[in-house]
Amino acid sequence: MTNANDELLEIARSTAVAAADLVRAKRTAGVAVAALKSSPVDVVTEADRESEDLIRSLLADARPGDGFLGEESGAGDASTTGVTWVVDPIDGTVNYLYDIPAYAVSIAAVEGGSDPAEWTALAGVVVNPVLGEVYAATRGGGAFLGRQRLQVQQGKQLATSLVATGFSYTAERRERQASALTRLIPLIRDIRRAGSAALDLCSVAAGRVDAYYERGLNPWDHAAGALIAAEAGAQVGGLHGAPAGSLFTLAAEPGLFAQLAPLLDEFGAAF
Ligand code: IPD
Ligand code: CA
Ligand code: CA
Repeated sequence: MTNANDELLEIARSTAVAAADLVRAKRTAGVAVAALKSSPVDVVTEADRESEDLIRSLLADARPGDGFLGEESGAGDASTTGVTWVVDPIDGTVNYLYDIPAYAVSIAAVEGGSDPAEWTALAGVVVNPVLGEVYAATRGGGAFLGRQRLQVQQGKQLATSLVATGFSYTAERRERQASALTRLIPLIRDIRRAGSAALDLCSVAAGRVDAYYERGLNPWDHAAGALIAAEAGAQVGGLHGAPAGSLFTLAAEPGLFAQLAPLLDEFGAAF
């Protein structure tokens, strides 16, 4: 028997796989910068826009009345069903531009609006088009990579933790992020900067990194990945009990979260 969240998940999954096929085909054909966004290093390609257009129309066909928030086209009409789709049509666009196979299509269904502080995520899918990996989760239904159930290991030690992070597109914030990193890196195994927040969160779920943190995420960066990490047993949140969001997002098994959160706070990672 399927429940309402499973139905949302199947729509998210088929839509994300269709968009991933388009993104992969466009990459094979060649990619160029279409425009600059928040800074000269923040780019958008035609594939970002076409992927979002496809996702938006497939979701509207499947579920008219739902709300929509996408990185490239913004917010749609208010939801009449209570469900809003939060979409990053390519997370990791710089990797996509350079043909580094670490980018993803990210689609989440949330209820309670398009503000991460207020929403409850119901279903989320993150697809890596190059590896053909499909991460999926429903609220209370667990997290999966393909058909494999994901469960994060408990009891991680800070000193042997592999920690993923990301950097803003603005130079001033990057400087602060880098200086916090210089204080953390002597205390841990190593750092990874893969270039896709959605995949970073899925990597926590899959045990490919032990933790992930970043300041300045947008709702579409973490909507699906945060649910996938949480359903795999990670703690996902901000600092001082705040929900995950633009101010700060940290994901790790609860014991490691408790070790990392005060350090990241002290080192200014959230400024
Ligand atoms: C970016 C990536 C990156 C993260 C940035 C995001 P985009 O998303 O997720 O890893 O560090 O904060 O903006 O621009 O590739 O969709
Ligand atoms: Ca993104
Ligand atoms: Ca994007």
